Parts: sequence; structure tokens; C-alpha cells
Amino acid sequence: MADSKQDNTPYVDALLEYSARETGRFQVPGHKGGLAADPAMVELVGMTGLINDVPSVTEGVDIGPEPTPFQQAQLLAAAAWGASRTWFLINGASQGNHATSMALGHMGNEMVVQRNVHSSIIDGLVLNGMRPSFVSPELDPELGIAHGLTPESLAAALDATPNAVAALVVSPTYFGACADVAALAEVAHSRGLPLICDEAWGAHLHFHPDLPPDALASGADLVTSSTHKIVGSLTQAAMLHLGKGDRIDPAIVDRCVSLVETTSPSGLLTGSLDAARRMAAVHGEELLTKTLAAIANTREQILQIPGLGILDESMVGRAGIAGWDPLRLSVDVRGTGSTGYRLAKKLFYSHGIDLELYSENVVVGIFGMGEPAETGERLVAALRASVGELEAEPGPPQEKLAPPPPWGELVMTPREAYLGPQEVVPFDDAVGRIAAEGLAAYPPGIPNVLPGERLTAETLAYIRESIAHGGYVRGGSDRELKTLRVTVER
Ligand SMILES: Cc1ncc(COP(=O)(O)O)c(C=O)c1O
Repeated sequence: MADSKQDNTPYVDALLEYSARETGRFQVPGHKGGLAADPAMVELVGMTGLINDVPSVTEGVDIGPEPTPFQQAQLLAAAAWGASRTWFLINGASQGNHATSMALGHMGNEMVVQRNVHSSIIDGLVLNGMRPSFVSPELDPELGIAHGLTPESLAAALDATPNAVAALVVSPTYFGACADVAALAEVAHSRGLPLICDEAWGAHLHFHPDLPPDALASGADLVTSSTHKIVGSLTQAAMLHLGKGDRIDPAIVDRCVSLVETTSPSGLLTGSLDAARRMAAVHGEELLTKTLAAIANTREQILQIPGLGILDESMVGRAGIAGWDPLRLSVDVRGTGSTGYRLAKKLFYSHGIDLELYSENVVVGIFGMGEPAETGERLVAALRASVGELEAEPGPPQEKLAPPPPWGELVMTPREAYLGPQEVVPFDDAVGRIAAEGLAAYPPGIPNVLPGERLTAETLAYIRESIAHGGYVRGGSDRELKTLRVTVER
């Protein structure tokens, strides 16, 4: 097993060594290390970036004597995160979820899935053809957001699905709530099943003792990790980690990762994972200590702005929340009399501040591992000014959105609905039909409809209502939702 804190970057070093040789490049990519690049591309990426944009199958980088620098980098990542094996992903955590779904497809036909999973898991169900049995996360009606899954809910769902071959959960949530993954793993393992965790938002958790435990340490068997989100690899670069148990076959995962991956991964993306691993493994604790202090300070200042609150550790103990990840700065805006939508627009257009997420009641800013304290100060100043400006220009009064109705019956698998005979019908005519596409109203982003489910009048009314409240709906192929894609039943 490699040293978990090794202070070198074998893949980056090999890439730089290759570039320094200034070989005649008669392979892809056609920009030839920048020699044949448009000036706009040079301006965009820089010559250093172009020179190092080396494809795979390069001698001394990812082929040649084993372990190659590429293999060494993955071994170091596995050691750093405590995995038995790690795969680098260059199509985001989405690729990890697609590969995971295909791997589960090797094991059987049914699985239990937390309902508010990311769309990449639903796409994974289209790919693997499995029949999902959905289990609802805990809902917070006051804040209008969803938290994690309780062990009791998972146990009940697994008991009701005797043919399930795995359980798939999400933790942390977009807002920072961490589920009791150890207890969820215990529930799955006691039935002889693997627990899969989409930990896209938690790549940093492993590296600081004051953060909630990470999914691998909690016993999860396969973990998707979106390294680029908080740990700081290049956008798109993520990892898939295999746990220590033997419930999942690494050879199967390996072939599934390849199935959903380009044959031309860019050295820049892979190299960024190697560098991010070093940063997390060697300096993560020190960097996170600084970031946590900066966040604590930022939170205190935000609490002094009239009308703003913070979602924090005091939420721990509520159903579905066993820990809180502070690197999401989730701000409760209800006391301002305005909405998260209006506040986020004001922050962006008047103060140049971009947020990760905003909903009716909560806005979320992300902190990266090692982010300097000054960025928090900038956010506080912009929040203070925006809240004051919104007070002076109140919006129309808003009625609270009712909770979403129960989802419709699953009549066919997502794959059957997605690939089978289908047609496009006006939105209002879709009642009673089977959806061939998913729809998720944000907030809280729990899919209201998934491919294969019967569309009910209540669900369609809810979606309309949610848009009228300033929310938005993801998933429909008609972005304006004038029409819906439904199956043709024979
Ligand atoms: C829970 C969760 N899983 C997976 C993903 C997909 O991550 P990526 O954008 O790295 O593909 C996201 C993206 O936001 C997410 O929130």
C-alpha cells in the first residue's frame, strides 16, 4: 500500500518531463502543443496548458514499465482516501455514477435508491435497465429543502424490496447535511448488500478531524467523489473509490469505468487529480483548519446582518442529519422578507458575487479547501449591501409553496420508458401518461417525475406552481415545459 501522505506528484512530473523533451508531436491533439492553436485558444488556456495537453497512451506517462506514473497516481489517491482502489474520472462524478450503475447492473435487476439523487444516477438507471425502488429523504418543510436518509427509512425500503442487490444514498447534500453513513452501511451490510454513496460533495471530509466522517471510513462499498467541487482539481476531474469490503468486484467496476470514458483523456485533467491529491493528503488538514476558521468568522459576521441566519451544526440530530459540513455556507434568508432568488440576482448583478445554489429560502456559497479568509469578507460585504438594497425595493408578497405530492407509480423501468416508443404532447395533456423523461422542481430538487412513472394531475400542478414561485425545473427536453415527452402505450 502506498504512503497515504506522499509528497510528490508522479503523474504531473511525468507529464512535465515528457513536455520538456519537446518531441515532434505527430499524434493528437491537432493543436500540437499550441503550435497549431488559434490565438484565442492560447489566450484561453495559455501555452503551458497547451504544451501539457498530452493525450493518453504516452510512453513514460501511462504506458511503459509498471506501475506507470498514471497507475502510481491512482494508487496514491487510493491510499490518501483510504480506498482499496481508486479510478480517476475525467467526466465528473457523473461518470462515477454511470460506472457504478453499470457495475450494479452486473449484480441483478433491482436496487433501492434515495429519491433526491443527482440526475446522473437516474441516467445510470437508464443505462443499466434496473428497476429502482425509491426511498424518500427527510424533508424540511420550513426551509423547503431535503436532508439525508435515515437508517430506519433505508431498512424499511430494503425490507420491501427483497430482490434489491444494493442501496444507493447521497451524502452530504447540496446544503451540507451529512447522513449517518455508518448506520446506513450497517443496514445494507446486515442484509448482505453493498452500500453505494454518492459523496460528490464530500471529497474533503477525509482530511480533517473536525469534519463529519467520510463515506469510505464509514463503511460504504463504492463512493463517487467530485474532487473538483471542493478539493480543487480542474472542472470535470473526479474519482471513484472502492471500499475495503469484497461486496463489489473491482474487475467489474474497472470495465464499467472504461465503458463510460473517452479513449482520449486529457493529461491536464488527470494531472489535476494527481496535484489535488497531493494538496489534500499532505496539506489538507492545515488548509482546512484555516478554511474552517475563515468560515466560522464569515458565519459570525453574516449573523449580524438583519434577517439572515445560517444552517449549521445546530441542525445535527434532526432526522437525516448526523453531521454538518461547513464548507457549504448555507444562508437562511427568510428573515429578510425577500427570497433567495432575488438575493442571488442582486448579489450577482449589483455586487459581482456568484453563488453555487439558491432557492426560495436558502442560498449556498461554496468554500474551497484552502480558500483565503478575504473571500468570506467580500461575501459578507456584498450580502450586507444586497439585503439593504432589497429592503428598499420589496418584491411582491409570496405565498408559501405547498409540499410536493407523492410521486406517481413506476409502471416500467426508466430504461424501458426512455428508449421505448414515445411522443411529445402538450404539458396539460400529459396527465395519466407515462413519462419518458424526468422532471425535478428546484427547490428542493427531488425528482417529481422519473422516466417510467405515471404523470398525475397533482404532480403537474405542483410543477407549474413551483415555476410560478420563481423555481426552475430540470430534466424536460422542452426547457419551456410547454410539452412533455411521454411513452406510447400499446
Ligand atoms: C450529489 C451529486 N452527485 C453527482 C454530481 C455530478 O457531479 P459532476 O458535476 O462532477 O459530474 C453532482 C453535481 O452537482 C451532485 O450534486
